[in-house]
Amino acid sequence: MGRDVRIRHITEGDWDAIVALEAAAHSAGALSEERHALESRARSSPGTCFVLDFEKRPAGYVLALPYPMFRYPDLSRAEDVVHHSRNLHLHDLVVAEHVRGNGLARELLHRLTTTARAKKYERVSLIAVGGSEGFWSANAFDAVPEVALAPSYGASAVYMSKALRMSEALRMSEALYRSEPVHEDRDARRRSQPMVRSTDHPRKTK
Ligand SMILES: CC(C)(COP(=O)(O)OP(=O)(O)OC[C@H]1O[C@@H](n2cnc3c(N)ncnc32)[C@H](O)[C@@H]1OP(=O)(O)O)[C@@H](O)C(=O)NCCC(=O)NCCS
Repeated sequence: MGRDVRIRHITEGDWDAIVALEAAAHSAGALSEERHALESRARSSPGTCFVLDFEKRPAGYVLALPYPMFRYPDLSRAEDVVHHSRNLHLHDLVVAEHVRGNGLARELLHRLTTTARAKKYERVSLIAVGGSEGFWSANAFDAVPEVALAPSYGASAVYMSKALRMSEALRMSEALYRSEPVHEDRDARRRSQPMVRSTDHPRKTK
C-alpha cells in the first residue's frame, strides 16, 4: 500500500470525520459517544490528541487527556474539568477499517507516546474495549484487572497501564493500590482508593 500518511493535531474541520470514524468503530458495541462528549475530551488536552491522514483524508485519530490513575471518562458525559495528573489517559484510538493492518495504529501510538514523554507524563492508561486487549499488550500495556469499570464500557473492557517514567509518589500510589494481601477486603479497597484521589487536582475549565 502507498504510504501517504500524516499525523497532525485536530482542527475544527476534522470533527465530522472523527465522529463518523468513531461511530463506525464503536456503534456495534454500543460504546459510541455524543459528538459534544468527544469534542470535550480533545478540548481538555488539544496537545495530546491527533488525527491521521491517509492519502490526504482523515483515516484515524487518537484522543488522550490527563486523568488520575485508575479513573476514566464517563462515556455519557462531556468533560467539565481538566485534571492535573502525570498520567495520560488514552481515551480512544481508531483506525478506519479499510486501512487496518498497516501499522497505522502503532504509528498513532508512537506519536502519542513521544508527545507524552516530551510533556513529562509518567504513565499512559487506557481501557481496552471490543477485544483490543491483545493489541495493547503487544504495545507494552499491562492489564490492571483490580480497577472496576463502569458497565457502559462493555463486559470485556479491561483497564491497562504503561509506565513512561515514574516519580516515587506515583510508584508508591500504584504499589499500594496493587498490593493485595490475601486476607484483605478487595472491594473495600476499590471503594476507598485514597492514594489515587490524593493525586487528583481538578480545576474547572469555565
Ligand atoms: C485496534 C485498532 C486501532 C488497530 O488498528 P491497526 O491500524 O489495524 O493496527 P496496526 O496495523 O498498527 O497493528 C499493529 C499490530 O497489532 C495487531 N493487532 C491489530 N489489532 C489487534 C487486536 N484487536 N488484537 C490483537 N492484535 C491486534 C496487528 O496484527 C499488528 O500485528 P503485527 O505487527 O504482528 O503485524 C483498530 O483495529 C481499530 O480501530 N479498532 C476499532 C477501535 C478500537 O477497538 N480501538 C481500541 C479502543 S481501546
